[in-house]
Amino acid sequence: MDIQQFKYGADNLGYLVYSQKSAIAIDPGASDDMIRFAAEKDLSIDMVTNTHTHADHTQGNDALVMKTNARFVDCTTLSHGQVLGLNDGTGLEVLLTPGHTMDSICFKGDGFIVTGDTLFNATVGNCFSGDLLAFFNSLTMLMALPGDTLIYAGHDYVGDALKYARIIEPNNPNLNGYAAAYNPDHVVSRLSEELLVNPYLRFNSSSMIGRLKEKNLPRETQFQRFSSVMEVF
Ligand SMILES: [Fe+2]
Repeated sequence: MDIQQFKYGADNLGYLVYSQKSAIAIDPGASDDMIRFAAEKDLSIDMVTNTHTHADHTQGNDALVMKTNARFVDCTTLSHGQVLGLNDGTGLEVLLTPGHTMDSICFKGDGFIVTGDTLFNATVGNCFSGDLLAFFNSLTMLMALPGDTLIYAGHDYVGDALKYARIIEPNNPNLNGYAAAYNPDHVVSRLSEELLVNPYLRFNSSSMIGRLKEKNLPRETQFQRFSSVMEVF
């Protein structure tokens, strides 16, 4: 199983997850680029789905379904643990991760995860659902994945995210290395790196707890600390 990233719009990222002959398209805003890539690799795009139903993620669905034999899989009908299969017996596991929206989903593959607008490289999505506890639970589920898991997000917000991370944790020694490794042509990081730089995942770090203490913010429980980081920074 492999994954190819496609950039479209200002900063959106979509993906083809593929095996030898078949592919699943996720957030296919770059539908023409996906079709070209699939032709070059002799892949049949069998499925089209989304990380959530925001228009910038679903905008390529119709075009891709029309131009290929792909089946549209409505992401709102998927259930936790369900597997979307490729024709070599491998598949993508669906993780329901409500928070950014109530219908937000991540797709776990072989050594990587497609995270949509739930987890970005160096930041997290907005909690548009208003359910901060659900968002916290979703993010802590992702944080428990193996550290070498590659994070493939729904947007490239790395530049602004790092500026913000420097304001939140100015003394974080890991920010420079992360910034140096950033490649706008292939936007990816490992979960272990996110745990070192992404301020919204660092609610258990002593430096973040120190920052919350400086500002006299609630920090007793993990969720209080997460909420304080989300609401203040
Ligand atoms: Fe979104």
